[in-house]
Amino acid sequence: MSDLNYVRVEWDGDLAVVTIDRQDKLNALNGEVIDEIGKVFTDLLVDDDVRGVVLTGAGEKAFVAGADIAELVKMGAVDGVRVSRQGQDVFTAIERFPKPVVAAVGGYALGGGLEVALACHVRIASDNARFGLPEVGLGIIPGYGGTIRLARLVGLGRAVEMTLTGDPIRADRAEVLGLVSRVVSRAELLDEAKAFARRITRHGPVAVRAALESIYRGVDTSLNEALAFESSLFGLLASTEDMKEGMTAFLERRDAEFKGR
Ligand code: COA
Repeated sequence: MSDLNYVRVEWDGDLAVVTIDRQDKLNALNGEVIDEIGKVFTDLLVDDDVRGVVLTGAGEKAFVAGADIAELVKMGAVDGVRVSRQGQDVFTAIERFPKPVVAAVGGYALGGGLEVALACHVRIASDNARFGLPEVGLGIIPGYGGTIRLARLVGLGRAVEMTLTGDPIRADRAEVLGLVSRVVSRAELLDEAKAFARRITRHGPVAVRAALESIYRGVDTSLNEALAFESSLFGLLASTEDMKEGMTAFLERRDAEFKGR
């Protein structure tokens, strides 16, 4: 992964830790940062050694303090659509990533920062995290999927409240709303996010991938279509070695050794 200025990738066993690192601007997302996030996930997609991803921001103060306002202020209507689509495409690629993606959110997750966290499959926060969508106060709306994904996660009422007031919420409130799965101290954040990712990656990757596909496709389609798709995946999994291994291991009272096929 060469030619990256704002995104770092480190490996910890079979996990890739992706760090957005633009600390002087609280990791704000300009076009280049979003482009680099997209490239990194494209590379990780085909890397069979990677079983899961932790996405985080560099520094103590912010996960990501939003899209880069200094860049946005210059845009016209045509740029606006392009900028929004670029962010939506990259964040949707994260949501549709076939391996678990856990966001480790320390400090501010505002605007685009909350939107990228929403696209991750699981969110772990530190107690200094603050979540908010301040866009309306800047004369825009969340344009990287925030008006859609927040409502799907926490319900319409809470999403409308957060989007229209722009007021950030604290980590403990985010946990109550189901926006984050766990709140830990800043010092524990990365280890806790990795441990959470490993709770998923210890399972067979084919089943994990199928579960992600069924859940996210299910949100987008009618109940009938979603149930039919779920059944197809269920049938497909019955043909895998991983299913035989998982069930045999249970019956033999031992840990399963999944091969991913
Ligand atoms: N876009 C561009 N630059 C940003 C930014 C953003 N979203 N968020 C922070 N920065 C920059 C600041 O301009 C400042 O740069 P400078 O030192 O060159 O002047 C630097 O990051 C530090 O931010 P600062 O505002 O000085 O830190 P703070 O601790 O006083 O406040 C925040 C922190 C997060 C409350 C504040 O930076 C903020 O409100 N940011 C914008 C949040 C937002 O509206 N996001 C949605 C954008 S669509």
